[in-house]
Amino acid sequence: MAGYAAEAGAAAGAGRGRAARHPPLTSLVVSTIAAFSAVVVFAILRSAYDAAVSRTTTLLGHNLEPTPWHLFKHDKGRPPARAAFRCAPSLTCRPPVAQPAPGTTNASANASAAPRLCPAYFGAIRRDLAPWRRGGGGVTRALLDAAQRRASMGVAITGGGRRLHVELYYACVQSRALFTAWSLLQLMRRYPGRVPDVELMFDCMDRPAINRTDYGGGGDGDHGSPPPPLPETNIEPWSKEFRDIKEGAKAIKWQDRVATAYWKGNPDVASPLRVALLNCNDTNMWHAEIMRQNWDEEVKSGYHNSKLSSQCTHRYKIYAEGFAWSVSLKYILSCGSMALVIDPQYEDFFSRGLRPEVNFWPVHIDVAAGGMCESIRDAVEWGEAHPAEAEAVGRRGQRLMEELDMDAVYDYMLHLLTEYARLMRFRPAEAPPPRPPAQEVCEASVLCLAGEKQRRFLEASAASPAVSEPCVMPPDAGE
Ligand SMILES: *[C@@H]1O[C@H](CO)[C@@H](O)[C@H](O)[C@H]1NC(C)=O
Ligand SMILES: *[C@@H]1O[C@H](CO)[C@@H](O)[C@H](O)[C@H]1NC(C)=O
Ligand SMILES: *[C@@H]1O[C@H](CO)[C@@H](O)[C@H](O)[C@H]1NC(C)=O
Ligand SMILES: *[C@@H]1O[C@H](CO)[C@@H](O)[C@H](O)[C@H]1NC(C)=O
Repeated sequence: MAGYAAEAGAAAGAGRGRAARHPPLTSLVVSTIAAFSAVVVFAILRSAYDAAVSRTTTLLGHNLEPTPWHLFKHDKGRPPARAAFRCAPSLTCRPPVAQPAPGTTNASANASAAPRLCPAYFGAIRRDLAPWRRGGGGVTRALLDAAQRRASMGVAITGGGRRLHVELYYACVQSRALFTAWSLLQLMRRYPGRVPDVELMFDCMDRPAINRTDYGGGGDGDHGSPPPPLPETNIEPWSKEFRDIKEGAKAIKWQDRVATAYWKGNPDVASPLRVALLNCNDTNMWHAEIMRQNWDEEVKSGYHNSKLSSQCTHRYKIYAEGFAWSVSLKYILSCGSMALVIDPQYEDFFSRGLRPEVNFWPVHIDVAAGGMCESIRDAVEWGEAHPAEAEAVGRRGQRLMEELDMDAVYDYMLHLLTEYARLMRFRPAEAPPPRPPAQEVCEASVLCLAGEKQRRFLEASAASPAVSEPCVMPPDAGE
């Protein structure tokens, strides 16, 4: 699920940065008044709330420390915990309205519709969960408690998939906690009564928090102890972004695209790979153009030069991981150019649908095979010698992204939670640990905590109840 909230969060974060630089006068006045009344209200309520505040975490995590294992700059510009907390007392999540029982919804009423098979990469759900299925051990309370020590937040879904409780242990960067909670609420809204009751631990930082090699490598044949289960999430509808990129891509035909491999991004993200990529910046020798994306400049200029829909100008587009997985993979594939993917170390949920020489072209780092720049050059030369095939690889990459619509994203979440729930060896408690003081979270409470720009993104991404059954999982390959 990685990729979505990060991007929404980055957008929201950048928006905040921009507003801070040029605050319109009216908003200054309003916020001064708001701040002043907050001070007054706060002074009155302070003594009453002090005890509660010290025990209460907020959805945004303003009063939380960054994760010790993924340090990041704490945003001092954020409102203090108490400002965020002000949302909560005035707001209680209403008990869930009576929903139609499963089997009587429109989704199932439309059973005449032929069942849709999920994309093949849904099969990765079973592979991902294999360490807990092996030996029938399942996900135990003890394993979940162990995962909590590496988690940013705990989530409990109860009441027949109708109630959500969230407990924050550490702060998440940007707006990831907010969007993660929202995505679960949207899933519950999309499939009323179908989301299983579960307890989960989430990490919300870029890099995985648990090293697979510490648990026997996670391969099917090994006998290590199962790792603590800790998924990463990220959901934000990108349907509009994809449409825009596809439109932009249509405007430039294959023969009119520049016959070099293009990469534009930020090399300063503690990524040795991206630094090495700078050495390939030579159109004659390596047929590659490596451009630096200066985000500070972009923020100032209103993102005029970083519009994704106008970046489909080259026949070959390079994907290089950054600090960990990078959200850019899906934008690169969306262009319909042949994607040159440099040996990735991390997976995104949909990247398991990538097939070498079918919908992308693999680029190798290892020196034994000649080195990365050589590998890029060879890919471009192959493409120029086989233009129809290269164009077809690009088209199939774009097709993979076209299938990655929000229906597929929600179906993936539903199947992942359903398979996970089957492995749970305990009944989910309403509150994740430390029970009991978890907050019930509903759409109103998320919106109440969101900033103006976040709110716009959240509202734009609201889901509606499904009109057809979720896709059917591909047959179990017998792992
Ligand atoms: C269910 O379908 C009926 C007619 O097919 C429609 O009028 C109604 O609005 C639908 N309900 C929902 C919740 O989509
Ligand atoms: C994971 O652990 C192994 C063995 O301890 C180590 O060699 C490797 O560098 C670790 N990986 C990461 C990403 O920390
Ligand atoms: C790559 O080369 C081009 C053309 O020489 C240059 O404009 C660009 O700045 C270079 N990229 C980087 C990251 O230095
Ligand atoms: C029934 O399902 C099909 C296929 O999923 C969908 O296109 C159609 O809109 C649905 N019809 C109704 C009435 O919901």
